[in-house]
Amino acid sequence: MAAKKEIKEIYSSLKSEINHHNFLYHNKDKPEISDVEYDQLFQKLLKLEDEYLFLDKSDSPSSRVGDTPQSDLKEFLHEVPMLSLDNAFESEDLYDFEKRVFNKIKKQKLHYSCEPKIDGVAVSLIYEKGKFIKAGTRGDGEQGEDISHNVKTIKQIPLNLNGNSHPKKIEIRGEIFVKISDFKSLNNTFKKNNQKVFANPRNFVAGSVRQLDSSIASKRPLNIYCHSVGFISEGSFFETQADMVMTFQGWGLPTSDDYKLCKNIEEVNSYVSHLTTKRDGLDYEIDGIVIKVNDKSLQNMLGASSRSPRWAIAKKFAAEEGESKIISISFQMGRTGALTPVANLEPVKIGGVTISNATLHNMDEVKRLDVRQNDYVKIIRAGDVIPKVTAVLINERKAVAKKVLPPSHCPTCKEPISFFESNTPMLDCNKLKTTDQKCFGFSQFKETLKHFVSRNAMDIEGLGQRTIDVFVEIGFLKSVTDLYKLSKSQIIDLEGFASKSTEKLLDSINSSLTTDLYRFVYALGIKEIGLETSKNLSKYFTNLNSIQTAKYDDFIQVDDVGEVAATNLENFFSNIDNKKIINEFLKLGLKFKYQNKSKASHLTNKVIVITGKLSHYSREDLKGRLELMGAKVTNSVSAKTDFLIAGEDSGSKLSKANKLNIKIISDENLESFIDNT
Ligand code: IVH
Repeated sequence: MAAKKEIKEIYSSLKSEINHHNFLYHNKDKPEISDVEYDQLFQKLLKLEDEYLFLDKSDSPSSRVGDTPQSDLKEFLHEVPMLSLDNAFESEDLYDFEKRVFNKIKKQKLHYSCEPKIDGVAVSLIYEKGKFIKAGTRGDGEQGEDISHNVKTIKQIPLNLNGNSHPKKIEIRGEIFVKISDFKSLNNTFKKNNQKVFANPRNFVAGSVRQLDSSIASKRPLNIYCHSVGFISEGSFFETQADMVMTFQGWGLPTSDDYKLCKNIEEVNSYVSHLTTKRDGLDYEIDGIVIKVNDKSLQNMLGASSRSPRWAIAKKFAAEEGESKIISISFQMGRTGALTPVANLEPVKIGGVTISNATLHNMDEVKRLDVRQNDYVKIIRAGDVIPKVTAVLINERKAVAKKVLPPSHCPTCKEPISFFESNTPMLDCNKLKTTDQKCFGFSQFKETLKHFVSRNAMDIEGLGQRTIDVFVEIGFLKSVTDLYKLSKSQIIDLEGFASKSTEKLLDSINSSLTTDLYRFVYALGIKEIGLETSKNLSKYFTNLNSIQTAKYDDFIQVDDVGEVAATNLENFFSNIDNKKIINEFLKLGLKFKYQNKSKASHLTNKVIVITGKLSHYSREDLKGRLELMGAKVTNSVSAKTDFLIAGEDSGSKLSKANKLNIKIISDENLESFIDNT
């Protein structure tokens, strides 16, 4: 066996070799070896690490992927506050900025360091003697969150800076972003897989770097541009901003490709015009241009206010606006049944992109804008966000302009639409769809089924769109739970269903009854509740019963759950028809693989007797539900009984309970009793 020293040397040179190839691949786009050769090197590294526990893995390229999930993000304190930038909207504002600088430093000739203001997520990277230590978000400027585990997965960020001359400690600041092209193609994939889609690239980045589980970030194509320095142990390490950018590059830290050193404010102005024209062609989103006094000693003289440095300014782009005429207003139906009003426009070019639809969000917005058919409207396009109508050009309106009314019939199946809550702008009912519900007829129910059986949900193989269509149309499936009531003899009679494949299908359906809690929650297809949120819900609540009885205030505590999602969750789980369907699943044998014990509930260890006829539950269903909450359901009333649930026609049990002074729960009060409200 080789000596310890030798192994350490082999390991160290292997790490450098892999780092070198990472750099060439991710930062230079110029790999020198094939992917297969790279994988071989990487495997060699993993094998060494596996075999020799004394090796120092803290800066290993292998530590970049897949850490185990952490309980919570730690705090990250900024030694130098992370400030904002003052904004300049007009070019006069730039001259005013220069005047303020001149007044303060009494110098009339300045150079300016300019680069795009990237619309990403600000990050602070701490390096000690050239070695990556940790990374944090901006947070409130004083304290952010430690996102080291995710930042380490960004291969563009060196774990060891190149070269030998490094400060003892330096805080490098930059912006993490995603390329627009990557964002679009990933969002398309998410959409196809019925996963949560992101509203814009920034959102995507923020959602990636704040994950607890770094294996998520490791799969996301994140990039970084480094643009400034926070804390630095040697105060005068850089003479100028330009010097800092060059040094960053030498260390292997990515900087903006569009960096420019301008010799005066006129040059800054032409750089601004140049970048404004170039903006739409860039593969990353920018929301302005940052202009910094180049000389670091002058920066120090200028200092900062409590909010922003006096030596820098952000020239913001004007919002991209256009005008067009509404040709028609249509309603788009989503999977969950929500109808969104959309303005179909005469095509108009805004910021280099042709726009022919703009969202009107919901009926409240239609009312607020008082938008009518054939109106001329203002449209705004902010980066990659869906264009939206912002105002009506009222003077252009013809005298008789028709108001926009929600459709009275489902645009897909022509069934009449029911409004379940009279004032909701979303024309859906937040219910698990069945064929009994007339709102969106079969098409909506088929969508529900398609989602329910999909790979990330219940993962039922062999139930494609065509089979679903057939099963629904001939009446085999009227509700999602009917899936579990299908029989071989029923299916085999249908044309095109062989014995083997039918057995396989039924096997797949039946085995899906033992599943992960998050899969089931996701499968329910609740509005706004994608895969990631379902996982978070499952982690937080640990069992179905706690989710079913949770309220808005509980849901809002969960990672990723905002106000709308929390409302949808509460509405969904308190809906009596949904409760019935979920109970039916439990009766059919739904079990969770890693079901934790029920969280303590107000019914834990309570002894309950059920009697009489109940309007919303069968005796079996109610028993199952109560037992999941930790209650003991018995048959006869005794002094040990805590509650008697008494439905219609309760007989001797009710009179006995009354005699024993036992609390009686009526059919009417049953729901609030279970929900503890
Ligand atoms: S320099 C404020 N340069 O914009 C201290 N910031 O609104 C100097 N940003 O917190 C920052 N691109 O996160 C600088 N090229 C760039 C930037 C940039 C984006 C962000 C940064 C900063 C925020 C201020």
